[in-house]
Amino acid sequence: MRNSNGRLNGKRAIVTGAASGIGEAIARSYLQESASVLAVDLPGRNLESKFGGTGGATLLELDITGKNAAAEIIAKAVDAMGGIDILVNNAGIAVGSSVETTSDDLWDKVMGVNVTAMFRLSREAAPHLKKSGAGRIINLGSIMSDLAGPNLFVYGTSKHAVAGLTKSLAVDLGEFGVTANYLQPGAIITALSAPFFEDDAFRSYWEEKAPVGRLGRPQDVASAAVFLASDDAQFVSGVGLNVDGGAIVKF
Ligand SMILES: NC(=O)c1ccc[n+]([C@@H]2O[C@H](COP(=O)([O-])OP(=O)(O)OC[C@H]3O[C@@H](n4cnc5c(N)ncnc54)[C@H](O)[C@@H]3O)[C@@H](O)[C@H]2O)c1
Repeated sequence: MRNSNGRLNGKRAIVTGAASGIGEAIARSYLQESASVLAVDLPGRNLESKFGGTGGATLLELDITGKNAAAEIIAKAVDAMGGIDILVNNAGIAVGSSVETTSDDLWDKVMGVNVTAMFRLSREAAPHLKKSGAGRIINLGSIMSDLAGPNLFVYGTSKHAVAGLTKSLAVDLGEFGVTANYLQPGAIITALSAPFFEDDAFRSYWEEKAPVGRLGRPQDVASAAVFLASDDAQFVSGVGLNVDGGAIVKF
C-alpha cells in the first residue's frame, strides 16, 4: 500500500535521467512523497533494477534527443498517469572541452541533451501542465549557469542556456499557474562528476570551497526538487536555486 500522506500526493511527475545520480534521487523522493512518476532514461541503463515493482513508478527507456522522444514521453505519461503536473528535466551530460577543442559534433551532442531536449519536452508538456492548474517545470542547471570554468566551455554554455530557457518558460506559462525554476547544484558526487573528482586538486578545491565543508549528495538536490514541486513553492518562479553548500558565495 502506498503512502498517501506525502507532500506530492496526487501529483504526476516526469523525471528524465532517472537511472542515476540526482535524477534517481529525485524520482525516489517524489515516490516517497506519494507522487506518481514516469522515470525516463537511456536504453540499457537498467531503470528496471532501480524502480521495477515500485508502486507509482512507470518506466520508459529512450534517448531524449530522438526526434519524436518528447512526444513519446508525453504520450506515455498521459497514458500511464492521466496527465502531468511536474516536469523535471534532469538528464544531462558533461564533457570537458575548451573553445578550441569543442568540435561541431561535441557542441551538438552536449547542447542536444542539456538544452534542445529540455526545450522540446517543455514545449510538449506545456498544454498538460497548463491543465494541471499547479504545473511545475524544474530544470537542472548548475553553478555553471552563473560561472565559467576552465575546460568546461560547452558544458558551461549549455547550463547558462538552461537559465535563459527556464526564465522564458516562467514568463510564458506563469499566467496558466505554471512555475518554472532551475536547480544549481555545486559539486555533487555522481557518475557524471566522478571523472572530474579523480583529480585530487579538483576534489579538495570543492571540498574546501563549500562553507559546509563537504561535497554534495544527490539527496541534497532531491530535497530542493521536492520543495520546488510542492505547494509551498507556488509563488517561486523564474529563479535558480543554488544547492552547493554555499560554495558560490565564498570569496
Ligand atoms: N553531479 C554534479 O556535480 C552536478 C552539478 C551540477 C549540475 N548537475 C546536473 O545534474 C543533472 C544530473 O547529473 P548527475 O550528476 O546525476 O549525472 P548522472 O550521469 O549520474 O545521471 C544522468 C542521467 O542522465 C541520463 N541521460 C544522459 N543522456 C541521456 C539521453 N540522451 N536520454 C536519456 N537519458 C540520458 C544518463 O543515462 C544518466 O542516468 C545533469 O543535468 C547535470 O548537468 C550535476
